[in-house]
Amino acid sequence: MDNKNLYINLDNHIDLTGFDNLHYKICRGFSRARHLANIGNLDVGTENVINDTSYTHLCHVYQAYKKYPTESEIKNASKDLDKSELSVFLKFALGGYDLYQTYFVNEIPEYFPETFSWINNLKALRVFSEIKESYFMTLDSGGIPFEHYHPDGGKIVDFIHIRPRMSRPFYIRDINTSEKIYIDARSAWWDDRIPHGGDPVMFPTYTLRIDGVFTDEFRQKILNE
Ligand SMILES: [Fe+2]
Repeated sequence: MDNKNLYINLDNHIDLTGFDNLHYKICRGFSRARHLANIGNLDVGTENVINDTSYTHLCHVYQAYKKYPTESEIKNASKDLDKSELSVFLKFALGGYDLYQTYFVNEIPEYFPETFSWINNLKALRVFSEIKESYFMTLDSGGIPFEHYHPDGGKIVDFIHIRPRMSRPFYIRDINTSEKIYIDARSAWWDDRIPHGGDPVMFPTYTLRIDGVFTDEFRQKILNE
Protein backbone atom coordinates (compact mmCIF):
# COMPACT_ATOMS: atom_id res chain seq x y z
CA MET A 1 0.00 0.00 0.00
CA ASP A 2 1.09 3.56 -0.71
CA ASN A 3 0.60 6.87 1.03
CA LYS A 4 -0.84 6.06 4.43
CA ASN A 5 -2.12 2.70 3.18
CA LEU A 6 -5.11 4.21 1.43
CA TYR A 7 -4.56 2.74 -2.03
CA ILE A 8 -2.56 0.15 -3.93
CA ASN A 9 -0.53 1.27 -6.94
CA LEU A 10 -1.16 -1.25 -9.74
CA ASP A 11 0.99 0.37 -12.42
CA ASN A 12 3.53 -2.47 -12.37
CA HIS A 13 0.81 -5.07 -12.78
CA ILE A 14 -1.31 -3.67 -15.59
CA ASP A 15 -0.45 -3.36 -19.29
CA LEU A 16 -0.85 0.40 -19.43
CA THR A 17 1.02 0.66 -22.73
CA GLY A 18 -1.54 -1.63 -24.33
CA PHE A 19 -4.30 0.47 -22.80
CA ASP A 20 -2.73 3.71 -24.01
CA ASN A 21 -2.58 2.33 -27.55
CA LEU A 22 -6.40 2.22 -27.50
CA HIS A 23 -6.81 5.94 -26.82
CA TYR A 24 -8.11 7.05 -30.22
CA LYS A 25 -10.30 3.97 -30.52
CA ILE A 26 -11.79 4.76 -27.11
CA CYS A 27 -12.42 8.37 -28.16
CA ARG A 28 -14.16 7.09 -31.30
CA GLY A 29 -16.38 4.92 -29.08
CA PHE A 30 -17.36 7.94 -26.96
CA SER A 31 -18.24 9.81 -30.10
CA ARG A 32 -20.31 7.03 -31.70
CA ALA A 33 -22.03 5.73 -28.56
CA ARG A 34 -22.85 9.10 -27.06
CA HIS A 35 -26.59 8.42 -27.37
CA LEU A 36 -26.12 5.25 -25.28
CA ALA A 37 -24.16 6.83 -22.44
CA ASN A 38 -25.76 7.24 -19.03
CA ILE A 39 -26.00 10.97 -18.39
CA GLY A 40 -25.13 12.00 -14.86
CA ASN A 41 -25.48 10.00 -11.66
CA LEU A 42 -29.17 10.47 -11.03
CA ASP A 43 -29.87 7.87 -8.40
CA VAL A 44 -26.60 7.62 -6.54
CA GLY A 45 -27.59 7.74 -2.86
CA THR A 46 -27.71 11.31 -1.56
CA GLU A 47 -26.13 10.11 1.66
CA ASN A 48 -23.10 8.93 -0.35
CA VAL A 49 -22.35 12.24 -2.04
CA ILE A 50 -20.30 14.76 -0.12
CA ASN A 51 -21.63 17.98 -1.54
CA ASP A 52 -19.46 20.94 -2.28
CA THR A 53 -21.52 23.97 -1.24
CA SER A 54 -20.93 25.60 -4.62
CA TYR A 55 -23.40 23.28 -6.33
CA THR A 56 -26.34 21.00 -5.71
CA HIS A 57 -25.65 17.53 -6.99
CA LEU A 58 -28.11 15.98 -9.44
CA CYS A 59 -29.02 13.21 -6.98
CA HIS A 60 -30.28 15.78 -4.44
CA VAL A 61 -32.35 17.46 -7.12
CA TYR A 62 -33.75 14.05 -8.10
CA GLN A 63 -34.86 13.41 -4.52
CA ALA A 64 -36.64 16.78 -4.48
CA TYR A 65 -38.22 15.99 -7.86
CA LYS A 66 -39.63 12.70 -6.58
CA LYS A 67 -41.58 14.57 -3.93
CA TYR A 68 -43.56 16.63 -6.45
CA PRO A 69 -47.19 15.52 -6.87
CA THR A 70 -47.87 13.18 -9.81
CA GLU A 71 -50.02 15.75 -11.56
CA SER A 72 -47.61 18.65 -11.06
CA GLU A 73 -46.35 20.59 -14.05
CA ILE A 74 -42.81 19.28 -13.63
CA LYS A 75 -43.94 15.63 -13.41
CA ASN A 76 -46.19 16.06 -16.45
CA ALA A 77 -43.39 17.61 -18.47
CA SER A 78 -41.04 14.75 -17.68
CA LYS A 79 -43.26 11.68 -17.39
CA ASP A 80 -42.08 9.82 -20.53
CA LEU A 81 -38.38 10.44 -20.13
CA ASP A 82 -35.85 7.66 -19.70
CA LYS A 83 -33.16 7.94 -17.06
CA SER A 84 -30.62 9.89 -19.10
CA GLU A 85 -33.30 12.16 -20.52
CA LEU A 86 -34.56 12.82 -17.00
CA SER A 87 -31.01 13.73 -15.94
CA VAL A 88 -30.78 16.33 -18.68
CA PHE A 89 -34.26 17.58 -17.83
CA LEU A 90 -33.45 17.95 -14.13
CA LYS A 91 -30.15 19.66 -14.78
CA PHE A 92 -31.99 22.47 -16.51
CA ALA A 93 -35.32 22.33 -14.69
CA LEU A 94 -33.93 22.36 -11.16
CA GLY A 95 -30.24 23.11 -11.58
CA GLY A 96 -28.81 19.69 -10.72
CA TYR A 97 -25.05 19.44 -11.10
CA ASP A 98 -23.24 16.46 -12.65
CA LEU A 99 -21.06 16.54 -15.76
CA TYR A 100 -20.40 12.80 -15.98
CA GLN A 101 -21.38 10.44 -18.77
CA THR A 102 -20.90 6.71 -18.20
CA TYR A 103 -20.37 4.13 -20.94
CA PHE A 104 -20.79 0.53 -19.84
CA VAL A 105 -18.32 -1.29 -22.06
CA ASN A 106 -19.75 -4.71 -21.22
CA GLU A 107 -23.22 -3.57 -22.37
CA ILE A 108 -22.11 -1.97 -25.65
CA PRO A 109 -18.90 -3.86 -26.56
CA GLU A 110 -19.50 -3.25 -30.28
CA TYR A 111 -18.53 0.41 -29.73
CA PHE A 112 -15.37 -0.48 -27.82
CA PRO A 113 -14.29 -3.83 -29.32
CA GLU A 114 -10.56 -3.44 -28.70
CA THR A 115 -11.07 -2.20 -25.14
CA PHE A 116 -13.49 -5.06 -24.47
CA SER A 117 -10.79 -7.53 -25.60
CA TRP A 118 -8.15 -5.77 -23.52
CA ILE A 119 -10.40 -5.99 -20.46
CA ASN A 120 -11.25 -9.65 -21.04
CA ASN A 121 -7.58 -10.44 -21.45
CA LEU A 122 -7.17 -9.56 -17.76
CA LYS A 123 -8.69 -12.97 -17.10
CA ALA A 124 -6.11 -14.72 -19.29
CA LEU A 125 -3.43 -12.71 -17.44
CA ARG A 126 -4.83 -14.07 -14.14
CA VAL A 127 -5.65 -10.60 -12.78
CA PHE A 128 -9.37 -11.36 -12.50
CA SER A 129 -11.01 -14.76 -12.16
CA GLU A 130 -14.31 -13.07 -12.99
CA ILE A 131 -15.18 -9.72 -14.55
CA LYS A 132 -18.56 -8.30 -13.57
CA GLU A 133 -18.73 -4.95 -15.32
CA SER A 134 -16.52 -2.32 -16.86
CA TYR A 135 -17.31 1.29 -17.52
CA PHE A 136 -15.79 4.50 -18.75
CA MET A 137 -16.60 7.61 -16.76
CA THR A 138 -16.17 10.66 -18.95
CA LEU A 139 -16.23 14.15 -17.56
CA ASP A 140 -16.68 17.38 -19.49
CA SER A 141 -14.08 20.11 -19.26
CA GLY A 142 -14.25 21.83 -15.89
CA GLY A 143 -16.41 19.07 -14.41
CA ILE A 144 -15.99 18.32 -10.73
CA PRO A 145 -15.28 14.65 -9.91
CA PHE A 146 -17.62 14.99 -6.95
CA GLU A 147 -16.50 13.40 -3.71
CA HIS A 148 -18.49 10.33 -2.74
CA TYR A 149 -18.22 6.90 -1.26
CA HIS A 150 -19.82 3.62 -2.20
CA PRO A 151 -22.40 2.02 0.05
CA ASP A 152 -21.06 -0.30 2.69
CA GLY A 153 -22.47 -3.63 1.63
CA GLY A 154 -20.21 -5.26 4.17
CA LYS A 155 -17.80 -6.32 1.46
CA ILE A 156 -14.70 -4.84 -0.11
CA VAL A 157 -15.02 -4.74 -3.90
CA ASP A 158 -12.23 -5.86 -6.24
CA PHE A 159 -11.72 -3.37 -9.05
CA ILE A 160 -9.09 -1.58 -11.11
CA HIS A 161 -9.35 2.14 -11.76
CA ILE A 162 -7.30 3.48 -14.66
CA ARG A 163 -6.58 7.05 -15.69
CA PRO A 164 -5.11 7.72 -19.12
CA ARG A 165 -3.23 10.65 -17.65
CA MET A 166 -2.08 11.74 -14.22
CA SER A 167 -3.06 15.30 -15.00
CA ARG A 168 -6.55 15.01 -13.52
CA PRO A 169 -5.89 14.87 -9.77
CA PHE A 170 -7.76 12.14 -7.93
CA TYR A 171 -7.70 11.59 -4.20
CA ILE A 172 -8.90 9.50 -1.31
CA ARG A 173 -9.98 11.34 1.81
CA ASP A 174 -8.17 10.34 4.98
CA ILE A 175 -11.19 10.18 7.24
CA ASN A 176 -9.08 10.65 10.36
CA THR A 177 -7.38 13.87 9.29
CA SER A 178 -9.69 15.04 6.43
CA GLU A 179 -6.54 15.27 4.31
CA LYS A 180 -6.79 14.56 0.59
CA ILE A 181 -4.39 11.74 -0.25
CA TYR A 182 -3.71 12.07 -3.96
CA ILE A 183 -3.28 8.86 -5.93
CA ASP A 184 0.20 8.87 -7.39
CA ALA A 185 -0.49 6.11 -9.88
CA ARG A 186 -2.36 5.72 -13.13
CA SER A 187 -3.98 2.46 -12.08
CA ALA A 188 -5.02 1.75 -8.55
CA TRP A 189 -7.28 -0.07 -6.13
CA TRP A 190 -8.67 1.32 -2.87
CA ASP A 191 -11.46 0.57 -0.48
CA ASP A 192 -14.22 2.48 -2.25
CA ARG A 193 -16.25 2.76 0.94
CA ILE A 194 -13.79 5.53 1.85
CA PRO A 195 -14.67 8.95 0.33
CA HIS A 196 -12.85 9.71 -2.93
CA GLY A 197 -13.05 12.39 -5.56
CA GLY A 198 -11.00 14.65 -7.77
CA ASP A 199 -10.12 18.18 -8.66
CA PRO A 200 -11.52 19.71 -11.86
CA VAL A 201 -9.33 20.38 -14.86
CA MET A 202 -10.14 22.48 -17.89
CA PHE A 203 -10.17 19.69 -20.44
CA PRO A 204 -12.39 16.63 -20.92
CA THR A 205 -11.16 13.48 -19.21
CA TYR A 206 -12.08 9.85 -18.87
CA THR A 207 -11.32 6.99 -16.53
CA LEU A 208 -12.00 3.27 -16.76
CA ARG A 209 -13.17 1.09 -13.90
CA ILE A 210 -13.27 -2.70 -14.12
CA ASP A 211 -15.11 -4.59 -11.39
CA GLY A 212 -14.69 -8.29 -10.78
CA VAL A 213 -13.00 -10.82 -8.54
CA PHE A 214 -9.22 -10.82 -8.30
CA THR A 215 -7.46 -14.16 -8.61
CA ASP A 216 -5.82 -15.30 -5.39
CA GLU A 217 -2.39 -15.01 -7.00
CA PHE A 218 -3.00 -11.40 -8.11
CA ARG A 219 -4.35 -10.48 -4.68
CA GLN A 220 -1.28 -11.96 -3.00
CA LYS A 221 1.05 -10.21 -5.44
CA ILE A 222 -0.38 -6.74 -4.88
CA LEU A 223 -0.75 -7.14 -1.13
CA ASN A 224 2.87 -8.20 -0.72
CA GLU A 225 4.33 -5.07 -2.26
FE1 LIG B 1 -16.43 5.98 -6.78
